[in-house]
Amino acid sequence: MLIDTHAHLTDEKFEGIADSIIQNFAQDRVEKVFCMATDKKSIELVFELSQKYPCIYAMLGIHPEDLDDWDIETKNRIIQLASNPKVVGIGEIGLDYHYCKDNKDKQIEVFVEQLKLAHELHLPVSIHNRDSIGDLLEILKSHKDLLSDGGVIHCFSESVEIYREIKKLGLKIGFGGTLTFKNSVTAPLVCKECDMTDFLIETDCPYLAPEPFRGKLNEPKYTSYVAEKIALIKGVSYDSVLEQNKANALSVFKKAGL
Ligand code: NI
Repeated sequence: MLIDTHAHLTDEKFEGIADSIIQNFAQDRVEKVFCMATDKKSIELVFELSQKYPCIYAMLGIHPEDLDDWDIETKNRIIQLASNPKVVGIGEIGLDYHYCKDNKDKQIEVFVEQLKLAHELHLPVSIHNRDSIGDLLEILKSHKDLLSDGGVIHCFSESVEIYREIKKLGLKIGFGGTLTFKNSVTAPLVCKECDMTDFLIETDCPYLAPEPFRGKLNEPKYTSYVAEKIALIKGVSYDSVLEQNKANALSVFKKAGL
């Protein structure tokens, strides 16, 4: 069975079709999907979805592109919702210097505050990183004590050396559609080198659909193509990749295994 560890099913691209996609999960062999919030509005939507469907788990947090939504009210709302069994982590949080470089200090401040929140709540984190690995690694190293509940650098696109640094911090790395792209070079190298216990499979849907659906609407069932690619690269069976993904996901998002 497939587990998607990073999805955005409340994205507006899924408006009107999210329910039918979720209702097809059983037939598509999708077992669990971890849905990420990014802003105030999606915190409510992701939580609602997790209450409606047993297979959907909620990750709550503010994405670096939605910094203005981080305030005391948001923090208190996350604390309130986190007592629910279906809220399994803090995400999507992190740094993004691709779209915005002029608010680095603010991004770092909000990221660290959410790492502290995750630590206080004993929850793992799903971390976004784009063109920001230097600062990200420095922050994670200097706040290693806040990472005791684990987490993942989602859609990992850095080098084997950076993977080893991330591993030392006790975090996992997420592989998605980009691993399957024909021009993908770094991700397959990291996939080949990484330990079987260190990866999580994800879509980041609605974006980053794997080959042969590149550019189309992505959805959780397409994690099968990522799993196939991992099996091919590592020279192991497809089923063993799915089993390992499930074990890895439940070792990070512990509340989902209870
Ligand atoms: Ni995402």
